[in-house]
Amino acid sequence: MKLLKNTGDLTPREIVAELDKYIIGQNEAKKAVAIALRNRARRKLIPEDIRDEVAPKNIIMIGPTGIGKTEIARRLSKLCRAPFIKVEASKYTEVGYVGRDVESMIRDLLNVSVNLIKNELRESVMTEAEIRTTEQLLNYLLPDYKATKIKNPFLQKTEEEKQEIQNTANSDTREKFKKLLEEGKLDDRTIEITVTSNSSPVVELFSGAGLEGMGINLTDLGNMFGGGGGKRKKRKTTVREAKNIILDQEIDKLLDMDKVTDLAKERAEKEGIVFIDEIDKIAVKSRNSSGAEVSREGVQRDLLPIIEGSQVNTKYGPVKTDHILFIAAGAFHMSKPTDLIPELQGRFPIRVELSSLTKEDFIEILTKPKNALTIQYKELLKTEGIKINFKDEAIAKIAEYAYDVNSEMENIGARRLHTIMEKLLEDISFNAPDMDEKEVDIDEKFVEEALKNIVENADLSKYIL
Ligand SMILES: Nc1ncnc2c1ncn2[C@@H]1O[C@H](COP(=O)(O)OP(=O)(O)OP(=O)(O)O)[C@@H](O)[C@H]1O
Ligand SMILES: [Mg+2]
Repeated sequence: MKLLKNTGDLTPREIVAELDKYIIGQNEAKKAVAIALRNRARRKLIPEDIRDEVAPKNIIMIGPTGIGKTEIARRLSKLCRAPFIKVEASKYTEVGYVGRDVESMIRDLLNVSVNLIKNELRESVMTEAEIRTTEQLLNYLLPDYKATKIKNPFLQKTEEEKQEIQNTANSDTREKFKKLLEEGKLDDRTIEITVTSNSSPVVELFSGAGLEGMGINLTDLGNMFGGGGGKRKKRKTTVREAKNIILDQEIDKLLDMDKVTDLAKERAEKEGIVFIDEIDKIAVKSRNSSGAEVSREGVQRDLLPIIEGSQVNTKYGPVKTDHILFIAAGAFHMSKPTDLIPELQGRFPIRVELSSLTKEDFIEILTKPKNALTIQYKELLKTEGIKINFKDEAIAKIAEYAYDVNSEMENIGARRLHTIMEKLLEDISFNAPDMDEKEVDIDEKFVEEALKNIVENADLSKYIL
């Protein structure tokens, strides 16, 4: 039997370590998602007859607002190469007005998967695509010096000599331009190119009204009727941008789309992850049926077959949802997980609770993550030539204020740090370009002076923090 050891799949410990770089605490939730991910990798290696029997262990994350539920999902999507989408359950309650049908989440997942596969296969056609791009750009830049293709061989005979001189001139000029192009010296020139656009006003007009639900866009119509490509139109742009546009077009032309969609379907079916955020918003507290609650329960019923495993039709063909992993999250302030319909509860066997954040957590959140707020502000102000140093005592004070305001007013979790930091650094942020001091120490006193009055005045903090 094959072992997972050298497949390059992250171990649960490695997944947690990656998440640790951005999210403080919440170890139980991190562990649960890490196990779920690893189980997908394990499933791929077990004998086929029981492979199909192993259902994904869907997870539901429960916890108050602003403590890292969505953040875990966001980071997870970046670190696993699986197709991943995040949807908000509440947006499906408005179907018929501006909402969308629940199956569209699977279609979206497949689109993500297609892009993922395309990116993976890009490399294999890149060299060829680059050569073609350069040739095309040269044609645009030197319309009179098209690559020397002689269309009429009879003409060639009569003008043989002339042609030959012309050819050498052509290829010389093209070579010169090619060199300039490769050195980026023509990047700022404006040229007019022909682009194949994917959108058509007609289809866009319909798409809002549900055609999008069928997952059809003009590329498909174009493929159906015209054999590739949408509408062609002229566009003025810089050479720099044109390079990218043409390169993308050439890559698309070179990729075998049948192969891409086959791989994409398989990848989505076996490794896809759908993160359903705000699931508490579709829980129904009482059984008295007001319109809104009927609609919410309706969304739950629509979700059920997808999560249980069914087939969803997409523009790439039917997709089976049996092995897609679903992770749901919700604050469950107003409702409880038990307010979800029982069948749906059963589809999420793993429940993890995320805990409220403490003052100590705030200290870490302010400093430890790779994208920590203090680091962000430092970098921002560095661009103005100003160095700010956060003293430990200041960080502790900020955390304390955040914690206090959270417990005295609404608990909005780590989001409180954003508002507090913004207020704290408001003056520096405003004055930075004109400041004489080029280094600012942020110590406890600085924090107190900036925030004490606001924190201690409930009315003020209600509006400001
Ligand atoms: N445990 C944590 N570690 C690091 N940063 C955190 C943590 N919790 C929250 N944050 C920060 O706070 C912000 C809000 O967190 P997040 O979006 O994950 O909230 P949530 O739990 O999904 O809340 P809601 O229920 O309101 O959707 C994020 O920008 C994130 O950076
Ligand atoms: Mg969230």
